[in-house]
Amino acid sequence: MEYRIDVLIDEKTLAEKVEELGKRIEKDYGNADEVILVGLLRGSTVFLSDLARHINLDARFDFMVVSSYGNSMDSSRDVQIKKDLEEEIRDRHIIIVEDIIDTGYTLERVKEFLELREPASLKICTLLDKPDRREVEVPVDYVGFTIPDVFVIGYGIDYAQKHRNLPYVGKVIPLD
Ligand code: IMP
Ligand code: MG
Repeated sequence: MEYRIDVLIDEKTLAEKVEELGKRIEKDYGNADEVILVGLLRGSTVFLSDLARHINLDARFDFMVVSSYGNSMDSSRDVQIKKDLEEEIRDRHIIIVEDIIDTGYTLERVKEFLELREPASLKICTLLDKPDRREVEVPVDYVGFTIPDVFVIGYGIDYAQKHRNLPYVGKVIPLD
């Protein structure tokens, strides 16, 4: 498929929003000893690393791998956990950090999976949200940007593993 990439959210706008989210998290967790940021590999890595540097608390990193889109532009819906956390999370404060919520199946599955371990709290922080595409309801505590139903790339997010290193969020425009 041939396509063009148009800028959807530029670098400066991203940086301001990520700082704002980090400060909100810092304020909300100010009384906690620590918080564990759980990134879903690989899309959340760029967001998580920028976000974490705006949270002036003992913020730890852990990661999971869940099955994703593969090379397609549509959700598989059948979400599999491919790599579990390294740390124990019982009685600890957990924030799942995600790049984008689309149908909602990924976060529904991850949330259900982690809740079984009885963390002290479990919240969700996503950079992008596409509510028009939602098929299952997931409560999201921190949202960077609500976007329309477009396929996006950049700032960690890929199309067939490409474009994760773009410094902005772009939308993929198919050319025929
Ligand atoms: P969900 O399970 O449908 O909510 O899908 C969430 C996952 O699908 C995200 O973590 C992304 O990996 C992927 N995804 C959803 N929308 C996009 C997009 O516009 N571009 C690239 N990946 C996407
Ligand atoms: Mg993802």
